[in-house]
Amino acid sequence: MVIRYVVLSALLFLGVSSAQTLRIFASETQQQAIQKLVDDYIAETGTQVEIELGGATTEQRTQYLSTVLTAQSGEIDIYLFDVVNPLQFAATGWLEPLNSYFESEAALQEYLSPFLPSVVQTNLIDGTLYGIPAWTDTRFLYYRTDLLEKYGFEPPTTWEELREQALAIAEGEGNPDLQGFNYQGAAIEGTNCTFLEALWTAGGDWRDADGNITVDTDQARRALEWYRDTLDSGITVPTIAEMTTDLSRQAFQSGNAVFMMNWSYAWARFQNDEDSTVKGNVGITSVPVFDDNTPATCVGGFQWGINPYSENKEAAFELIQYLASEDSQRYLAAEWSQTPARTSLYEDADVLAAAPQFQDFYYVIINARPRPQTEFYTDVSDLIRSSMNAFFAGSEDIDTTLQTMQEGLEDIFAN
Ligand code: GLC
Repeated sequence: MVIRYVVLSALLFLGVSSAQTLRIFASETQQQAIQKLVDDYIAETGTQVEIELGGATTEQRTQYLSTVLTAQSGEIDIYLFDVVNPLQFAATGWLEPLNSYFESEAALQEYLSPFLPSVVQTNLIDGTLYGIPAWTDTRFLYYRTDLLEKYGFEPPTTWEELREQALAIAEGEGNPDLQGFNYQGAAIEGTNCTFLEALWTAGGDWRDADGNITVDTDQARRALEWYRDTLDSGITVPTIAEMTTDLSRQAFQSGNAVFMMNWSYAWARFQNDEDSTVKGNVGITSVPVFDDNTPATCVGGFQWGINPYSENKEAAFELIQYLASEDSQRYLAAEWSQTPARTSLYEDADVLAAAPQFQDFYYVIINARPRPQTEFYTDVSDLIRSSMNAFFAGSEDIDTTLQTMQEGLEDIFAN
């Protein structure tokens, strides 16, 4: 009884009446990962917390947030937002600035110091903190260790090696369901990374040091010729234009892919899901390159943000601190292979026992490259992913695809 009273007073103090509920907006995959943390929080504090499910992809959820936040609705209190969004969401007033929730600037700095500096920087805009990192993310090349060993291959370091290995394994296995190389070609956010990684590893970039857009270039042509070849050579399925992140994960998990590009979450699913046929046979390596270019991968990840129209902001702030705590991130890394946003976890025994890649690829993770950082990211994302999707579907050729992206980006950045 006494405990109940204390909890209730604490809740009233935090600004949540007993009848109120904190609502978190997340995808189903995110909900699966955070549900236990949320249940523990409810049990420990008595606070009511619900998770409202949004679409499976980043851009679908941004669409929903746009509707809710443009209407200035407080129906959700907390949301997970993608690393591509801070500039845009801060500029549109969709994120509660968090500095005033800390006692002082020194307290804020102290709170942030255990996080990876690059991830903190993404959330700090002109000194204002808009989100607390939930986890970071990186794309890797996943491969089947059993198949590579069977054919005497080391993990490929170049795209050309990947091609040769995929062809040899496909020929040797003679299994029509076995895809050589699976990646994302649907009109989704991840397809922007499909494009950028091939461009970067061809030695190019989307913009040069003077700010000129450099997408209609030899390096980008090489990237698209490579993808065209994955289809022509048959190492990739003809339906790649429909391939989303989780469909890739499912294809690999059911044993139907030799190589696959994907984010960190896929690892835990391969090891833990009951229907996984690849448990113990999965390897991870860096994104391959053309010739001897430098490997490059996209940075990803999600942040906890507070809806500025929430009526429970103080309580929401308490909850996101708990969700971003070292214990919570340890759980998310060890059980769900979400890449920690806190430095200490890269040396944590529980985390490394479950996901040794966080130690092996620490430098790859902290040096992962951002997608274009701009307030107009929705436009950039729409342009690249829809152009690439038309290319994968075969409705646009290489020249037209590159011209469309070049001119589109020039228009967006002329603003
Ligand atoms: C992952 C990444 C995120 C990215 C998304 C694209 O969830 O963490 O940053 O935008 O995939 O599909």
